[in-house]
Amino acid sequence: MTGKRLTVARSGLSRRSLLAAGGGVVLASAFPPLVRAATSLEKTLVAAEGHVRITPDPYAQTGVWCYGGSVPGPEIRLHQGEPLRVSVENRLAQDTTVHWHGLRIPNAMDGAPYVSQPPIQPEDSFIYEFIPPDAGTYWYHPHAHSAEQVGWGLMGALIIEEPQPPPVDRDVVWVIGDFRLNDDASIAGGFGNRMEMSMSGRIGNTVTINGRVPDRFPVRSGERIRLRLINAAPARIFGLEFKDHRPLVVAFDGQPVEPHAQEGGRVVLGPAMRTDLILDMTGKPSQSAAVLDTFYKGLEYKLVDISYSGEPPLRAQPLALPAKLPPNPAPEPDLANARRHDVTLTGGMVGGMGMGGGMMGMMGGSMWAINGMAVINDDMRHMKPVLTLTRSKSYVLAIDNQTAWHHPMHLHGHSFRVITRNGARTKYREWRDTVLVPPRERVEIAFVADNPGDWMFHCHILDHQEGGMMSVIRVA
Ligand code: C2O
Ligand code: CU
Repeated sequence: MTGKRLTVARSGLSRRSLLAAGGGVVLASAFPPLVRAATSLEKTLVAAEGHVRITPDPYAQTGVWCYGGSVPGPEIRLHQGEPLRVSVENRLAQDTTVHWHGLRIPNAMDGAPYVSQPPIQPEDSFIYEFIPPDAGTYWYHPHAHSAEQVGWGLMGALIIEEPQPPPVDRDVVWVIGDFRLNDDASIAGGFGNRMEMSMSGRIGNTVTINGRVPDRFPVRSGERIRLRLINAAPARIFGLEFKDHRPLVVAFDGQPVEPHAQEGGRVVLGPAMRTDLILDMTGKPSQSAAVLDTFYKGLEYKLVDISYSGEPPLRAQPLALPAKLPPNPAPEPDLANARRHDVTLTGGMVGGMGMGGGMMGMMGGSMWAINGMAVINDDMRHMKPVLTLTRSKSYVLAIDNQTAWHHPMHLHGHSFRVITRNGARTKYREWRDTVLVPPRERVEIAFVADNPGDWMFHCHILDHQEGGMMSVIRVA
């Protein structure tokens, strides 16, 4: 059954009746289903070495580590509330896990090595089985040796469709990321470089969309596109500007938000963050428009050209503004009675190299810390929870970034509202699972601790995570 959807999932037959029918017993199908079919979307993901084309001719193919022979791995797409069962086979030379980033699923399926499961050893396999509660744009990636494994190409899109998706002409997924390549298009070594780890993390030299150096993005005038952006880069932050277009954000990290244009027109995504855009192709036939990444000052570049076909516009009148997506069932935090905790981020290089800079608060071999605690060498075995929360209570975490670097902070197993930045209320109180905290900023997030278990809370710049900015929050 690997990798293919059981057709009975739609017809309402149970798995048992399918098996029975396969065995020649026709009677089974005579029973009308009383409840939704228990069949699930079944997939096998093999993590192994492979060769893919990242750069165009005349470059060679690139040796990668990947799921199912491709980078990104196969897109997994299912309906909200539909069970998913994925058998992960590890054919790498080191242990691995798969984390379903952003999904509020039971702890045992979370893919955090030593925290929620033993790592999957080479030649071993593990079955993940869960029902995604929320619709939206998610992704999957390993959670062991993360910087190296994601840096070699292990990641993929996970799309949970709404029961009634918003009307669009096309639903397009861009897994954006980067690789650090040598001149011959092979992946450069040097993972875990301590200097990079104490600064921005390993930023690649080759930016990709869906695993390829982008050529152009073909569109038709008048189209409405739902563009799902997933930042799967190990460290790079994107700030995308769609020239001559006005993308409207309709979801952050899978969670619906009031449709709005982003400030300055720039769509900012730290590592692991997602943004769903409604992009109306308002240009004329045969025009083109650039998508720029202007996040890092002085390092701006063109990501891709939007390229209009010569066809006449798809529709004569522009469409009405998109409606807000239907809400997901995440519980609303009770701010009046929420308990508060401070979360302080420290460490890293201050003031830059050779400018009188130095390390902030280096402790016991780690470079980064959360409330003074740090994981050494990515080893979660002896980690004590940095916070213990009571199940079903509401919490506000005030995350104070005392470092000179951005940190996309991710909490597993929950979505939270971003309620303030530097003391000012946020306009949209957006739900997220990863919040980008700029240097010296203080961000408050609020959520109900409704999912029991030990949950990772860490920076998603994978070098920072491995350099100590990783902790566990216990929901007891
Ligand atoms: Cu995207 Cu702890 O992970
Ligand atoms: Cu960080």
